[in-house]
Amino acid sequence: MSEEFVLLEPEDQPGDEWEALDVSDTEADRIARRQDREFNEFRERVKNTEQFKLQASVFDDATLAAVYKLVQDGYVDAFGGPVSTGKEASVFEALGGAAGERPEPGSAAAAEEYAREVAVKVYRINSSNFRQMRDYLEGDPRFEGIANDKKAVVLAWTKKEFANLKRARTAGVRVPEPIAVQRNVLVMELVGHADDRARRLSEVDVENPETAYEVVREYMRRLHRAGLVHGDLSEYNMIIHDGELVVIDMGQAVTVHHPNAGEFLDRDCENVAAFFTRQGIDVAGADLRAYVTEPESGSDSDQ
Ligand SMILES: Nc1ncnc2c1ncn2[C@@H]1O[C@H](COP(=O)(O)OP(=O)(O)OP(=O)(O)O)[C@@H](O)[C@H]1O
Ligand SMILES: [Mg+2]
Repeated sequence: MSEEFVLLEPEDQPGDEWEALDVSDTEADRIARRQDREFNEFRERVKNTEQFKLQASVFDDATLAAVYKLVQDGYVDAFGGPVSTGKEASVFEALGGAAGERPEPGSAAAAEEYAREVAVKVYRINSSNFRQMRDYLEGDPRFEGIANDKKAVVLAWTKKEFANLKRARTAGVRVPEPIAVQRNVLVMELVGHADDRARRLSEVDVENPETAYEVVREYMRRLHRAGLVHGDLSEYNMIIHDGELVVIDMGQAVTVHHPNAGEFLDRDCENVAAFFTRQGIDVAGADLRAYVTEPESGSDSDQ
C-alpha cells in the first residue's frame, strides 16, 4: 500500500455536554407487537433471502421490525451480504435510502451508487458479552439508571455507538459517518465499497507506518480531548481504504469520567504501540499515552 494517510480536518470543538439517551420502548418494538399485514409481508420477504437464512439468529422479530422501520424512514433500501459476523454484532452491506443520502463530489452514476452504500451493524440481543457490556455502561453519565436486562443494555450500547461516532466525527477523528439508529440496528457510512472492501490495519502491509502512526496518535488525542476513550483500539478496529485510515467499533468507548477510563486508555496505547513497534517504529505505550493526554495548551505539532 502506498497511502499518504492524510489527517481529517476537525470541525467545531465538541462541547462538554452529554445528550441524554433514551432507551425506552421503541417504535420497532411496537411494530413487532402489532404484527400488521405490511410488517408480516416484509418479514416473510426477508426470511426468504439468503442473507437471512445465513444470519437467522441475528434477526428476531423485533430486530426485523427495526430494519423495517429503517426502510420505512428511508435509511435503507436493500440489504446486501454480511461483511463480518462477530459475537456481539454482524455487519452487513446495504443500499442506503434517500433519507441518508450524502453529497458526494462528482456525479458519475457509479459514484452515486457508491454514495448510497451503507454499513448496517446489527447487535445481538442475546450477546454473550452482556455482562461485560454493563461494566462499560456503568459509570458513563449518559447511561445512569439503565435497566439490568439484556435488551436494555444492548439498546443502550447501540445508541452509545451512534453517539460516540457523532462525537468522534465532530472532534475530527475519521470514523464512519453515523446515519441512523433504531433499537439494536445502526446504519452508518460504508467505508470502501461492496466490491472493494476496506481492510483492517491488521490485514495490510503498512508501507509508511510512520505517517500511519502519526495519524492514529493524533486521532487518539482528538478523541481524548473530546472526552472519549475508545476502549478497544487496535489494528483490528482500524480500517483502511483509499489512503484513509478510519477508526471503527466505538460501542464500548467511554467518557473520560468513567472509573476505568484510565485503564482502557492504557490498554489502547499498549495495543497501538505494540502494533507499530512490530512495524519497526520505536514507540512505547507510555509515550503514546503522554502524547494523547497532553493538555491542550501545548503545541499540537510536537512529539
Ligand atoms: N462502516 C464500516 N465500513 C466498512 N466496514 C466495516 C464498517 N464497520 C464495520 N466494518 C467491518 O466489519 C468488521 C466488524 O465491525 P466492528 O469491529 O464494528 O464490530 P465487532 O462487533 O467488533 O465485530 P468483531 O467482533 O467481528 O470485531 C470490521 O472489522 C470491518 O471489517
Ligand atoms: Mg471490532
